[in-house]
Amino acid sequence: MSEIVFAEINSPPQSDAGSSTFDIPSYDISTPATPSSLFFDDRLGRLLREVPHNQHILVTGGLGFIGSHTTLELLKAGYNVIAIDNLSNAYESVSDRIQLLASKYHEEQGTPMPSLKHYKQDYQDIKSLIPLLEAHRTLSWDSPKSSIAGVIHFASYKAVEDSIKQPLKYYSNNVCGLIGFVETLGSFGIKTFIFSSSATVYGTLATSGAPLKEELCVHKPEGTKTDQESWSTVQPGCTGITNPYGRTKWMCEAILADLAISDPEWTIVALRYFNPIGCDSSGLLGEDPRCTPTNLLPVIVKVMTGQYSELSMFGTDWDTVDGTAVRDFIHVTDLAQGHIAALSVAMKGELRENFRTFNLGTGYGHSVLEVVETMQQVSQKTLPRKAVDRRAGDVGYCVAAADRSSDELQWTARKTLSDACADICHSLEISGLTNL
Ligand code: UD1
Repeated sequence: MSEIVFAEINSPPQSDAGSSTFDIPSYDISTPATPSSLFFDDRLGRLLREVPHNQHILVTGGLGFIGSHTTLELLKAGYNVIAIDNLSNAYESVSDRIQLLASKYHEEQGTPMPSLKHYKQDYQDIKSLIPLLEAHRTLSWDSPKSSIAGVIHFASYKAVEDSIKQPLKYYSNNVCGLIGFVETLGSFGIKTFIFSSSATVYGTLATSGAPLKEELCVHKPEGTKTDQESWSTVQPGCTGITNPYGRTKWMCEAILADLAISDPEWTIVALRYFNPIGCDSSGLLGEDPRCTPTNLLPVIVKVMTGQYSELSMFGTDWDTVDGTAVRDFIHVTDLAQGHIAALSVAMKGELRENFRTFNLGTGYGHSVLEVVETMQQVSQKTLPRKAVDRRAGDVGYCVAAADRSSDELQWTARKTLSDACADICHSLEISGLTNL
């Protein structure tokens, strides 16, 4: 029933016996039977998604770190998924693993496996995207309609230092690409959109040392409660974003907010990720970037696998409990499930406004040193490390206020830092990579 498709959109379609060559690839839009609702765990079961069997979710960047985990959780929750990825920072084999894990899950649950289709496709390549969207167009007398019920958009460049060196590459892909993409989606009547944003939009607001509330960074004037329990109005704009990558995320949010105002048919959610870590508990998915990693946990993994001799801890003189920087580390499976929660609320038309931002974080901070110590404890290995100067552009403290996503999406992170470290260790064990 389930199906996995590896197709180069620009390559000729696989020819069936007797069939002729087509100018555009043909897309299989068949879907297996999907029950009207599926529980994928006790918590998200509360959301009771009604997943019509003929609907699909389009996921851009569906094979990357967060994209692959979200694709897996979507399949577990009963959604048919079309994943597109240009493989610039992901591997095609990830799709097999997602398929394996989702199939196993449904086998155990006794539920039908939804369909996963994967295409090697750049989300900016509109010419190639159109045949796929055409294939999912449904009959309608008036406005365009599609069997693609929603889009989760991950595809973007995300390396901070690279963005400083090559800003136009970032503005072109992340911002210009988004404009052409949503314009095209809109013309096919696909107007439910989940955008992958980042806590980086808070810029230097993070230095306040208090959990970051969504209403501190807004795209229209918004009221917020101050410390004295009185209200003040926050004006739209950004504060002290330190790099082009961060600015692309803020600009994309602003564009999407304007789009939602101009056309009330759009339902748009911007999810502001804090620091995603860990991997699926199976150990079969993980953070496997093609580019040199700069984030803390991937660097720690490089030390654990012997590729780096030690970890450089950037800054030990921050105003924090042990002098190292504090972040809100969120397990990637929790983060992925946050997307399902947002999609479910958006598809039911239950968003408070048709553009809404949500933090995806735990609401708790851990210092860099705490992360190192937790990983040592879980792995029972010593991690060589040294203290070095602060990294340019870093802030000392960045932690989410988690109430809005809990109140409005009925979603909270459940997994701990230890869980994330244990899952990483498990993944390294089964791949035979650990070296310490
Ligand atoms: C970074 C990005 C942020 C992006 C996020 C995605 C910067 C300035 N910000 O956030 O825009 O949304 O990743 O995950 O890069 N650290 C070390 N040694 C290392 C690597 C990191 O000490 O080798 C420290 C950093 O200085 C920081 C903490 O670990 O204090 C977390 O770093 P990182 O994982 O890179 O995430 P952020 O900087 O929070």
